[in-house]
Amino acid sequence: MREILKIIKPYDAGIFSEGEVIKLSSNENPYEPSEEVKRAYLNALTKINRYPDAGYPKLKKAISDYLCVEQDRISVGCGSSELISRVFDVLIDDLDRVVVPMPSYSLYLLYAFLRDASVLTPIFKNYELDEGFFDDLNAKLTVVCSPNNPTGNTVKRKILEKIAENSEYLVIDEAYVEFSDESHIDFALELDNVIILRSFSKFFGLAGLRVGYAISSKEIASAIEKIRLPFAISVPAVEAAISAIRSIEYYEDLKKKIIAERERMFVELKKMGFEVLPSKANFLLTKTAGRDIADYLAKRGILVRKLENLLGLEGLYLRITIGKKDENDTLLATLRSYCCESAT
Ligand SMILES: Cc1ncc(COP(=O)(O)O)c(C=O)c1O
Repeated sequence: MREILKIIKPYDAGIFSEGEVIKLSSNENPYEPSEEVKRAYLNALTKINRYPDAGYPKLKKAISDYLCVEQDRISVGCGSSELISRVFDVLIDDLDRVVVPMPSYSLYLLYAFLRDASVLTPIFKNYELDEGFFDDLNAKLTVVCSPNNPTGNTVKRKILEKIAENSEYLVIDEAYVEFSDESHIDFALELDNVIILRSFSKFFGLAGLRVGYAISSKEIASAIEKIRLPFAISVPAVEAAISAIRSIEYYEDLKKKIIAERERMFVELKKMGFEVLPSKANFLLTKTAGRDIADYLAKRGILVRKLENLLGLEGLYLRITIGKKDENDTLLATLRSYCCESAT
């Protein structure tokens, strides 16, 4: 086995529960798919004796129409997770310098290490990237997440321009971008060294089906397409994703609800004395002194993500996905009880 596997930590996939719980721990969309998506998925079941069309032309056409991007700039994968892995495969040789500003999504590090890259993890408080740091960076690849998981903030175009000048390639992970309306796809269309990663798991609520895509230069798109798993996205997942794009109004309505709840939760948590970071995603990051708070919530059927001493995030934090209004209300009420009990 390769030596590097001894130091690679497994990806922390979060908490799962079989029972009836309020799951606010994996930044999923709390709402069901549209009726059209359900129908498209079910109709596709009659075709699952066949392989999917390996080039995924229908899915690419739907994404292309949705974003006004040429089809041959689009590559697809089994969730944006697969695309993170493939981008590293396509771009990184042994000891290439890969810069991953922190605190951010841990999967970038796993694949950087797997490629035997020379990995640099500069820490920026609350992921406020400092433009000056990227002068003479001389990196092969820099990976930026905007809005960032777990801090929720976005990265300004000016900083991305600086990085793109000083790094041979720049990946911008836009898994949560629809909740922010600050996409950088136009930037990727302008510059051949910028690659955007997108997901159907968050805004389109298809986390269980595993569909992601990348927008890049044609050259990079065709390299990713060449090496990805040939049939990574299943037939029903393709049909559901295409249908989700066609039900965009349904998902835009859900987005409005999620954003309204995000802003309400931000205010309510602050009122309760929590330190909360402003967020442009579908989750909030709060600092907490209560060591047992996540367990207290879990015992009462509410799952949030406990983040403890992560690289660039010293101390104890909770990352709370924005749920439906009643779920958020239950969380707030339970947090109030926790605060009362721990004050006595
Ligand atoms: C920043 C970020 N990128 C990528 C992913 C992977 O998403 P998926 O593989 O479901 O598309 C996640 C999942 O939580 C994420 O938080």
